[in-house]
Amino acid sequence: MTLRDAAMTARENAYAPYSGFKVGAALRGAGGGLFGGCNVENVAYPEGTCAEAGAIAAMVAAGETVIAEAYVVADSPEPVTPCGGCRQKLAEFAAPDVRVTLATTSGVETTTTVGALLPGAFGADHMDRG
Ligand code: THU
Repeated sequence: MTLRDAAMTARENAYAPYSGFKVGAALRGAGGGLFGGCNVENVAYPEGTCAEAGAIAAMVAAGETVIAEAYVVADSPEPVTPCGGCRQKLAEFAAPDVRVTLATTSGVETTTTVGALLPGAFGADHMDRG
């Protein structure tokens, strides 16, 4: 299965009754495993949990903590880009050069990196005073 297939399949299960905007994400872990996620909204917090966060949770629950590649897909006119919080979450588990493909369901793709999505990311080094 490709990363796109995994993201498209996860997207079909998105629970987005408030926004009506279904998003799918998939990660390939350093060990080769694929992990999908979808957005899950709720009435109290209609923005819910993003697809990227769901994929990260699935990956970590499976015992993998290193992202080798990421893919995000939505039915949008232009490829959807991860929200600020998800950029930080991706940066927690991915090196800056890790490829992130942003896509539409109709097949438009744009490729970027974790570092380009979050330049100057806050990291553990910032808390290191020797
Ligand atoms: N959403 C994601 O799941 N990922 C993104 O990259 C952008 C936005 C979701 C959150 C919410 O359920 C809906 O899209 C509208 O913001």
